[in-house]
Amino acid sequence: MEFDPKTPQYLTSDEKSFASVSVCDRWPVIITGAIDDLHRTVGDVTDAEKRNEGKEIIEQLAKLKYEVQHNRQLTPLPDDGEPDIEGYNKELEQRGFPTWHNVPWLYSECYLYRRINTLFTRSKHWKDYDVFARQKMSTFKSSRPAVLELAGRYKALALEAEKGPAGKTPEEIEQAERILFAEMCEICLWGNATDLSLLTNLTYEDIQKLQGSEARKAAEKNIIVNDTDAAYDVLRDARKTRKDSERRVDIVLDNAGFELFVDLILAGYLLSANLATTVVLRPKSIPWFVSDVIPKDFTDLLGALADPQAFYTAPDDTGRTYEPLTDRELSEIKFLLDQWSKFHEEGKLILRPHRFWTTPGCYWRLPHVAPDLFEDLKESELVLFKGDLNYRKLTNDAAWDPTTPFTTAIGPLGLKSGIRILSFRTCKADVVVGLPPGEDERLRQTPGGGGDSGARKWAWSGKWAVVSFCDGKA
Ligand code: F6P
Ligand code: MG
Repeated sequence: MEFDPKTPQYLTSDEKSFASVSVCDRWPVIITGAIDDLHRTVGDVTDAEKRNEGKEIIEQLAKLKYEVQHNRQLTPLPDDGEPDIEGYNKELEQRGFPTWHNVPWLYSECYLYRRINTLFTRSKHWKDYDVFARQKMSTFKSSRPAVLELAGRYKALALEAEKGPAGKTPEEIEQAERILFAEMCEICLWGNATDLSLLTNLTYEDIQKLQGSEARKAAEKNIIVNDTDAAYDVLRDARKTRKDSERRVDIVLDNAGFELFVDLILAGYLLSANLATTVVLRPKSIPWFVSDVIPKDFTDLLGALADPQAFYTAPDDTGRTYEPLTDRELSEIKFLLDQWSKFHEEGKLILRPHRFWTTPGCYWRLPHVAPDLFEDLKESELVLFKGDLNYRKLTNDAAWDPTTPFTTAIGPLGLKSGIRILSFRTCKADVVVGLPPGEDERLRQTPGGGGDSGARKWAWSGKWAVVSFCDGKA
């Protein structure tokens, strides 16, 4: 906590903050979802010892839900052999063992997922069980139309690029590339709208409405800060000046399924356009905030796409059946998968987890808590941070004045840090920085924006987005 900024954080006791909605409404629903999932799995287990252990975990989850709903104190996490437990418990003590309805939102939400995780890691038979995996894969299945649309678009672009820029001036070529880069970034940004911790009961149709190119077009005007041009400039310049040396882009991942799919589209694009020579993907090490990527999600996604006909046409629990994919759709998915597999085999597309991402603190602590990771990120040309939670951690989930520059609000990762950052975030929490004067006030007056209630409701739903850049190498 000693490295955190002094600006106060959002608290679950603040009724005008989404923190309070989270603790009262969302977390009980999320824990119930975990109980349901485990119940289903335990029902099929024949080994008596494993079955009983599964039932005990269900009881522990129910107890946790009770504690959240009845505003009990947060209790120290039990040791599961991982070094981060000590940090969680030390911070809990420093914060005076607060209760669920009066605690910093960021700390308590991280604690919630880490606590759920200890129930599994401390067991004998359920150590690697991901209680959110079922949800992640079924949402990815619901993303079929957008996946097919993007696969088709990507193949068409790649074939066009192969033909080369006949008859165009260098300026025209650069302009076309800049536009394409911005489009890839937009795809990658709006992929963040399908986060499962926020959208707890989406229908198949709801998911599809959020994802297609129509939805993206309509949402263009909702990007209230958009620094993609600055990011393009640095990657283009690096290609010009250091054409033959390693130029790395890192993606600090957020959600699995469709968002991971679009992250891979962006990674594939950066490598094929030679805007990067290596892309390092950074997943979480444990199940986190429902839908965040863990390494197994990466394998599961590639596995699903390796046989898309089987994956997308398998009947689901409701008995609903699905149209088969056409030969053209199959070949477009195969094109993507072949490209990703090739990059992966050549060592250009790398997965690199780190336990730091699931510690409870903000990224102001990174240089002190995980100096190895800090140094590693400096090696990158550009570090992309995906999603809302990463943004909250970059800014300490603090109640900054919304006109505070992004470069100030990210503290030690800001100017002169040695790290270049581009943060893609659809707004799903109160914190927001880098806005022009008057913008927050204007958005509060939009329908559902909060009006004069004192709550920044416009920033809660994922409708608005910010893409913020900071050049820490300048
Ligand atoms: O605001 C809702 C919420 O679940 C937050 O608790 C959390 O910061 C975020 O959404 C998770 O979203 P993302 O997957 O974009 O990080
Ligand atoms: Mg997430």
